[in-house]
Amino acid sequence: DVITTERIDPIVSPGQVAGHVHTIMGGSNFRLSTNTSFLRQSECTSSPIKEDNSNYWAPTLYFQWKNGSFTSVSGNPVIVDYLFSDTPGVTTPFPDDFRMISGTPTLRSYNGSDYAQQAVTFLCLDFSGTTTKYNQLPENVDCPSGIRAQINFPSCWDGVNSDSVDHKSHVAYLSGGPDSGTCADKKYPKTLPRIFMEMYLDTAGLYAQRSEAMNPAQPFVYAMGDPTGYGYHADFMMGWKAGVLQNVVDKCHCNEFGDPTCCSDAGIFTFQQGGTCRITKAIDETTTGTLPSLPGNNPVVPLNGKASNLVAPVTPAFIEPVYAYTGDSPTQTGKAVGQAVTATGGATSTPPAVTSTPA
Ligand SMILES: *[C@@H]1O[C@H](CO)[C@@H](O)[C@H](O)[C@H]1NC(C)=O
Ligand SMILES: *[C@@H]1O[C@H](CO)[C@@H](O)[C@H](O)[C@H]1NC(C)=O
Ligand SMILES: *[C@@H]1O[C@H](CO)[C@@H](O)[C@H](O)[C@H]1NC(C)=O
Repeated sequence: DVITTERIDPIVSPGQVAGHVHTIMGGSNFRLSTNTSFLRQSECTSSPIKEDNSNYWAPTLYFQWKNGSFTSVSGNPVIVDYLFSDTPGVTTPFPDDFRMISGTPTLRSYNGSDYAQQAVTFLCLDFSGTTTKYNQLPENVDCPSGIRAQINFPSCWDGVNSDSVDHKSHVAYLSGGPDSGTCADKKYPKTLPRIFMEMYLDTAGLYAQRSEAMNPAQPFVYAMGDPTGYGYHADFMMGWKAGVLQNVVDKCHCNEFGDPTCCSDAGIFTFQQGGTCRITKAIDETTTGTLPSLPGNNPVVPLNGKASNLVAPVTPAFIEPVYAYTGDSPTQTGKAVGQAVTATGGATSTPPAVTSTPA
């Protein structure tokens, strides 16, 4: 499901090293800069739908040890649900170059009246007991089957702009919250498919070592230095093959549980299971395993603390070209270009030239 785990964010930091590490899914033409036409030319996609070369990404989770080191949490299968009306003509597919963000990386507190904060939930999974839902990373609670980070995207659109300066104000949540109501606000009249992204996190083994953690009550920290989960967010960039999503929203109504089988049976898209699709690194930096600090040196900012979107003054080199591959390891990798530079405000070396499941 994951094509790469890197400090890349073509929506927020195009062409630059991003402020924090993301776990990235979808089309293999994910780059420091990308767009819909380029994504459509992807060699492969980690989506179970072959025609979906969109990218979906969210921050990576780490466990912080007493000595300050971090270990990345493994096992990140992701399910992307598309929810939409059974009535043809009601739902508008995403236009080309559409992109959006749900959630805010700098948040460290909870406002329960805010739909964007309601959009983020965490399931403490217990497959042989009771699974409980939280609005933050579960504290002082064992989740024996892991944690699932969930996020709803806004599903009402202004009908005009494929993006906006904050990557949010061209879209809005439904009238009743992130998952209920209609697109009643006249400024956002168009109903988009509602994207609901669920990322599984294999936290149990590390949680069992919590006595060795910096904070034994809640040992996990998101890549932007967030130990609360309130800063959880996700990004979407449209990469569906031309015309396919229109057919999906008009004709693909399998059952209420979101099983997409009948859509592939009807030839609307191609369901692919079990394959892998990954890309080689575009940034010369280790992002998984045990690390002395969070990539980008992001400080851990606790509950009610004031976080900022940092861009580390020292940035690693870029690697080019980037290759897509489908097996366990790539047959070729790029070369480091440019140098680690000291600058304020991000990278100054030259960026590379190249650069789901419907209901
Ligand atoms: C910190 O502790 C962890 C877990 O014992 C270990 O893997 C890591 O190497 C240590 N880091 C340093 C800098 O000693
Ligand atoms: C909480 O969110 C609501 C809805 O977005 C907003 O009107 C209100 O000002 C927020 N409260 C605080 C304390 O930020
Ligand atoms: C789309 O992205 C690719 C890769 O970064 C780039 O080569 C191309 O110029 C972009 N196209 C447009 C229309 O911006």
